[in-house]
Amino acid sequence: MRQVLVAGNWKLNGSLAMIKTLIDGLKAGMGEGTQAEMAVCPPFVYLGNTLSKIEGTAIALGAQDVCDQDNGAFTGEVSASMLKEFGCRYVIVGHSERRSIYEENDEFTARKFAAVKRAGLRPILCVGELLDEREQGITEQVVARQLDAVIQKTGIEGFQDAVVAYEPVWAIGTGKTATPQQAQDVHAFIRRRIAQHDQAIADRIRILYGGSVKGNNARDLFAMADIDGGLIGGASLDSEEFLSICKSA
Ligand code: 13P
Repeated sequence: MRQVLVAGNWKLNGSLAMIKTLIDGLKAGMGEGTQAEMAVCPPFVYLGNTLSKIEGTAIALGAQDVCDQDNGAFTGEVSASMLKEFGCRYVIVGHSERRSIYEENDEFTARKFAAVKRAGLRPILCVGELLDEREQGITEQVVARQLDAVIQKTGIEGFQDAVVAYEPVWAIGTGKTATPQQAQDVHAFIRRRIAQHDQAIADRIRILYGGSVKGNNARDLFAMADIDGGLIGGASLDSEEFLSICKSA
């Protein structure tokens, strides 16, 4: 039985005041009724502050990105061991905004994934196709290529304790959610691809859906057999909306 994970990716949003309001809201509303594991991924500079606010709660901390190197002359970067020291449990790797805006390719993403594993943290590996790729009917090829780059780097063992997030790029921040069946089809494909290497890891790995998940569509998505939670952007900035997604689990 896979426990649902709902992770909030705050992206480039937040301030000390906003984080206080958001975490206070989450703490006040969590209570009973949430079976999901909840995680928040603030920008790097707010990790310490966020950690101090969630300590003692069941909310887990995650980071949005990481350096592929462990230490040294890499100005501006943050290593996985630093994230560990600041209480992170999860690290998002290969988000489509990193891939498209910052031109990070599959190989670079795989190196980041490996760095997260070396530090003993759990990567949340994002995969997903562009609208154009879906229209060309090559969604599975794209997702397979993104997964295979990581499998090649770390071996399938790298996926032990890892999380995969399927985020169709055309659904991110657009209000256009994949239908539960569209998402389920790709999630099942991802699980099958992992199962070709290791059935036990495939059975256990959590595959999250991301892309315009809201309180009013989460339940139908999470009801699908291979959807084990969500990676939430915009709706994770509002405590009521985020809680309502968590309670859909
Ligand atoms: P939205 O929920 O805002 O569509 O963003 C999804 C996402 O990119 C999460 O990583």
